[in-house]
Order: sequence, then C-alpha cells, then structure tokens
Amino acid sequence: MLRLISTLALLFALALPSVAQQAELATTPDRSATGGAQTLDDVMARQRGEAVDDEFRREATGDPDSAAGTMDQLGTLGGASDPELWRALRFGTADVTVSTADKRGRVLVQDGGMWWLKIRQGPLIKYGLWLLAGTFIALALFYLLRGKIRVEGGLSGRTVERFKFMERMAHWTLAGSFILLSITGILGLIGRKFLAPTFGLEANATLLMVSKFIHNNVSWAFMVALIAVFVMWVLHNLPSRTDLVWIAQAGGIVGSKHPPAKKFNFGQKIIFWSVIILGASVSLSGLSLLFPYEITLFAKTFGLFNDWGVTALVGLEPLPTQMSPQEEMQYSQLWHAIVGFVMMAIIFGHIYIGTVGMEGAYDAMGTGEVDEAWAEQHHSIWLEEVQAKQVLSKSRASTPAE
Ligand code: HEM
Repeated sequence: MLRLISTLALLFALALPSVAQQAELATTPDRSATGGAQTLDDVMARQRGEAVDDEFRREATGDPDSAAGTMDQLGTLGGASDPELWRALRFGTADVTVSTADKRGRVLVQDGGMWWLKIRQGPLIKYGLWLLAGTFIALALFYLLRGKIRVEGGLSGRTVERFKFMERMAHWTLAGSFILLSITGILGLIGRKFLAPTFGLEANATLLMVSKFIHNNVSWAFMVALIAVFVMWVLHNLPSRTDLVWIAQAGGIVGSKHPPAKKFNFGQKIIFWSVIILGASVSLSGLSLLFPYEITLFAKTFGLFNDWGVTALVGLEPLPTQMSPQEEMQYSQLWHAIVGFVMMAIIFGHIYIGTVGMEGAYDAMGTGEVDEAWAEQHHSIWLEEVQAKQVLSKSRASTPAE
C-alpha cells in the first residue's frame, strides 16, 4: 500500500514541476538605468504574471550603520526604509522577534511559497471543479444513453441479506463523513475567491470557521470508518478469476449480459481499493495539516524517488529533498486537495450506480436486504453461496438431536 501511495505521490510530483517550470526565470534585464533597482520591465513582467528573478534585490534591505544619526540634521529613524524592511521580511533576513519559542514562527512572509499560492488559487480550483463538473456531465450522458439498469424479468419478492447492520453503519459513517468533508473542504478552498466577493469577508470568515471546525473533527469519523470498512470487506475484494470474466464482458455495463460475480464484482473492487488507497493518502496528508510540521512526508518521498532512479527514468531533474517546514505543508495541502477531488469524482460514479443508475442496488445499503432476482443478476456466485449456507443451516436445524 505504501508503494501505491508513493506512486501516486510521484505522479503528483511529476505534475508540479511543469507548473514550476512555467515560473522559469526570464532573461536578466539590464537594470543599470535604475542603479540596480527595479525597472519598469520588471514591474510589467510581474503584472503579466511572469516570474522575475528577485536575486538583485534580495540583499537590498537597508544598512542601519550607514544611516545618519537620529539627532543629526536630516537624521533618519534607522537607515532602512519601509520597502527595505518589507524586503528583509520577505526574503527572511529581518531580525524578527516573536512570542513563540519555535523558530518556524519567525517566518512572517515566505517568498518561496508563492508558486504554491498561485497553484492553490488558480489551477487547483479550476481543474478540481472541472473534474467534478465533467464527471457529473459524463454520468448524466451515460444515464441518457443507457438508462437505469433494470432487474430483467422483474423483482421476485423474495429477499436475501446482503449487508449486516455493522457493515451498513460503517458504510454510512464513511459516506456521511466524506460528504461533509468534501463540502467543507471545497468551501475552504474557494471561499476567499468566490464567496467573499459576493457575501462579504465577514460572512465568508464565519462560514469558513464553522467549515473548518466540521472538517477537522469529522475527519476522525472518516478515518475510523475507513479502517472498519477495510477490515470488514478486504477479503471480499481480493482479486479472483471471476474478475477476468467480468472484465472480458465489460461488466455488462453495455448490452444485456450480466457476468457472474461473488460478493463484489471487479468494478466494485476498483471502488473499494480506490477508497482505501486514496482515503489512506488523504488521511495521512490531512493529519500532516492538522498537526503542522509534525508529520513531514514529501522530502522523504521525493528522496526515495530520486534514489530509486524513478525521477531520472522519466527524464526529470532530481526532486527537492531539502524543504522548509512551510514547503512540506504546502505540498501536503496540494496533495490533500488533489486526492480529495479525485476521490469525489470516483464517489460521484459510485453514488450514481447505487441510486439512479441501477434498480434495486440502494436496498443493499438501505435495508440490508436485496431482491433475489437482483442478486441473481448481479452477484450470482455470491447468491449461490448464501443459498447453500441457508439450506445447510436449515437441514442442521431440522435434523433431530441424537
Ligand atoms: C449517498 C451516497 C452513497 C450511496 C447512495 C451509496 C450506496 C452504496 C451501495 C448501495 C453499496 C452496495 C453495493 C452492493 O450491494 O453491491 C455501496 C457500497 C460501497 N460504498 Fe457506498 N454509497 C454512498 C457513498 C459512499 C462513499 C462517500 C463512500 C466512500 C468514501 C462509499 C464507499 C463504498 C464502498 C467502498 C462500498 C463497497 C464497494 C462497492 O459496492 O462499490 N460509499 N454503497
């Protein structure tokens, strides 16, 4: 599982440099006309969203020693102007005193995090929401083309138990918490950009405070339910030979053939493992956000990719293995949100098939009982097993004690 999580992290890491590469520095302009200070070209380039090499002004943070004494004529208040002070804060050279003993608290402005801020405010929101909208549209089209998958020959009226109470409890805790986490997570991401301009900063702040409280606390229910679901269903989700038949017949999604299946068919196994692996990954990155700086994941993972030669294999420069604690958090935030969006898209598909997409499916999680005709159509091997057990227990019950 760790390998899989690492592979997913690699894909993420591969995607990031391309964004970072866009920030490749433009050619160094001639700044002699301004005596080495910013030029109009610099300002214009920044306004166009291009990256400007700030090296030339990193050190331009004033020199208190060369200042005229404060009591002198034209004496200054310390030899550093406001811009110089802000520059020193931005590039981490200001002499900052903070009340926390933790030196990480002394980073008041983190210039190295600008790439993250831009991705978070731009592509992350844009592509994340498009992924959800695209999935929704694809499912709507599928519904229009395929319609509801019906139980052929109608319902039998006889039912069989599919999920026990504990299984349904675990499922609905997982589902309920995931839906809450998704809504509050999205609100936190888009609030400042989309809600604040319409509803005002105050309303946005209140909403996000409540959102964050829900998000942070409900996450525990999600993690507990994820473990419960894993323990209860893992054996039913191991690969089996019947999966090959299911794959060969494309799950009977198109056409009227219904391949035989055990308790879970191959499509459901994909859902199960996606939920488990992505759920574990989103939980881990969430924990690293919940306990700032305590769980650092990315420098170590990137180091492994470099050592294994994976980055070289795909023609990339070695990934960064030295990161400031703030950068670790930034990678965690992006990873958390990306995995969250991917999971939401997958869950859209799952909710579709569990409700409007398939007749009789919802009952499995609603009452725990499914119609025998539905079970025969979608999980024939499982039904046979259940019926064989029923016959056995009945015959045991009717055998007179010796
Ligand atoms: C309102 C939302 C949801 C509905 C209506 C729903 C419905 C269902 C149903 C009917 C089943 C049983 C299918 C069967 O009998 O074969 C199921 C199984 C399952 N559900 Fe959900 N579910 C929802 C949300 C979620 C969420 C949010 C997650 C995870 C984050 C989730 C994870 C699972 C898993 C792992 C299984 C077992 C594998 C499978 O059947 O695909 N469900 N769900």
